Amino acid sequence: MSMPVHSLPATCRAAARLALAVAAVSATAAGAGAQAPLRAASPDGRNVVTVGVQDGGLFYSVERGGRKIVLPSRLGFEFRDAPPLRDGLALEGASRDSVDETWEQPWGEVARVRNHYNELRVSVVERALPGRRFEVAFRVFDDGVGFRYQLPRQPALQSFVITDELTEFHMANDARAWWIPANDPTHRYELLYGSSPMSTLPEVHTPLTMETHDGLHVVIHEANLVDYAAMNLTSSRDRRLRVTLTAWADGAKVYGRTPFVTPWRTLQLADRARDLAPSVLGVNLNPPSVLDDASWIRPMKYVGIWWGMHINTMTWGSGPKHGATTANTRRYIDFAAGNGFGGVLVEGWNEGWDGDWAANAERFSFTRPYPDYDLEGLAAYARERGVGLIAHNETSMGIANYERQLEEAFSLYERLGIRAIKTGYVGDRTKEGHAHHGQYMVRHWRKVLEAAARHHIMVDVHEPIKDTGERRTYPNMMTREGARGQEYNAWGAEGGNPPEHETILFFTRMVAGPMDFTPGVFDIRIASTDGTPRPPEAARVRTTLAKQLALYVVLYSPLHMAADLPENYEGKPAFRFIRDVPVDWEQTRVLEGRIGDYVIVARQERGGSDWYLGAITDEEARTFDVPLSFLEPGRAYVAEVYADGADAHWLTDPLPVDISEQAASARTTLRIRLAPGGGQAIRIRPAG
Ligand code: NOJ
Repeated sequence: MSMPVHSLPATCRAAARLALAVAAVSATAAGAGAQAPLRAASPDGRNVVTVGVQDGGLFYSVERGGRKIVLPSRLGFEFRDAPPLRDGLALEGASRDSVDETWEQPWGEVARVRNHYNELRVSVVERALPGRRFEVAFRVFDDGVGFRYQLPRQPALQSFVITDELTEFHMANDARAWWIPANDPTHRYELLYGSSPMSTLPEVHTPLTMETHDGLHVVIHEANLVDYAAMNLTSSRDRRLRVTLTAWADGAKVYGRTPFVTPWRTLQLADRARDLAPSVLGVNLNPPSVLDDASWIRPMKYVGIWWGMHINTMTWGSGPKHGATTANTRRYIDFAAGNGFGGVLVEGWNEGWDGDWAANAERFSFTRPYPDYDLEGLAAYARERGVGLIAHNETSMGIANYERQLEEAFSLYERLGIRAIKTGYVGDRTKEGHAHHGQYMVRHWRKVLEAAARHHIMVDVHEPIKDTGERRTYPNMMTREGARGQEYNAWGAEGGNPPEHETILFFTRMVAGPMDFTPGVFDIRIASTDGTPRPPEAARVRTTLAKQLALYVVLYSPLHMAADLPENYEGKPAFRFIRDVPVDWEQTRVLEGRIGDYVIVARQERGGSDWYLGAITDEEARTFDVPLSFLEPGRAYVAEVYADGADAHWLTDPLPVDISEQAASARTTLRIRLAPGGGQAIRIRPAG
């Protein structure tokens, strides 16, 4: 049943529209048994989706290169006060489309993204009353598949409450999965990844990364989550992953009204782990930018009054250790200006932190500073010095309180030239009982993003909803947390982040999008505390210092922090790498990688000729020979190497960094030695 596919040059911006009626499937088809399944293949022909009706149920399956990936899996919904949309279905029609366009990102891991797919859209009708209709659109790319439901406006389906989405992924292979549990009462997405056969998983978050027994890599995730509940996955012994949506306080999953469209369900497919990144399936499945002018959006590195609170040398609340004082902030602004940082994050500047701030949901003001913080004066001082303040908005899940103040606060920030905010959602539920990843909160996050865009404000979200590619539509959605970041090392919580952590993050959380991990802690053993007793193994960073540098290249973020206290950078030659490293890239190549073991990434500076290379390992020492064949042929380069010192070890000797220079070209093969828990960072610049 496959249709001819238009193949257009990658640069072609206009999509080729081929809406074709599929003769074999018509409203007059005799019955479900008579309907041949429909197929759609990716432009390279390797990924194939098959859709059809079996015993009145709608099923799809996915193959890659002739190998079964997803066995026939059910599609449909259950509703409150209405029969499920699941049985007695018939295919009514189908249309096809092919698109090949290349679009430019305002910032990102790559400057240009090719959006190249074949689409099959099937129309489905319920044969008995109430005779409801819906469509499922499948887009088949060379790097995976996306599909979503569309519920058209119709008398038999107007407003509705989804109590269950019946989508399944019946995996052909009991692949090894790297996962974090969903709906954990206190951690949101901030958990260490486990790994086990996919048939044994509890309810887990997406992205869910899996490796089949024959080495294929599959990531299940979603794209364009706008007005719906977050999708989690629950597995069964027979390898069926069922979609489980995060519920409202009343148990409903999604409130909607036709016409309605769901987020895309995505399956990224890659032959090797290293082909999972950079991942563009999600952004391709989001609508283009709605901003006419994105020139005010500028990726940048930043410092902040932040780590001090986490290691107890400062407080968010008022008192003798208050971090956000005018004098302290001026010191950070001076440090930022002197070292080329674009922003200074200030936490604890606004009223509401005193007492147990995590319980202060209704008490935060987002406009009133503490008396020892001269908001207007500091914003002006920062502007004079070519630096921007980053305003912190911790809500403690007081959503109504935040939304009430949103317009006033963002107007104030805009007037003061504050171009970025960091929001925070510590807490599991809103006061009204809405879950962190449910439809209510998904709506809230979009509301904040839209308000921020109106006021020319870039957004960095902590305790966010997962990234589903919305940065394409709202390029002011810069970065977010949504995983265990550096702060866990300061708290020593659950032992901090183990040395393998970032080598897992790269292939799991990072496939969704940028992360505000906050690398760059130089005081690895965290000596600079106020003397509060800390068990030595509990509060420290579990990497070498060179690995902290490499994380700037490996973990992508358009806002990257130099997390440590300024005094810990003073006089440290390795700090030069943090000053130099860009946060916006022309292209990205993953040179080596195994989930949970190691990653080596090379990235070319956006609009420049410099390349940067970051290599990280888990607790094992490793040596790699890395050809620099990605460099421009015939051009002479200098590699500035920041390597683990000879006996460096994350536990016993994390600090030594050997800094050296060597000539390099596209014909050079670099030997890269990584200490246990170590890393290497390299700037490769044209010679002369
Ligand atoms: C948790 C965030 O991850 C952290 O960055 C922030 O400092 C605190 N919440 C306070 O908002």
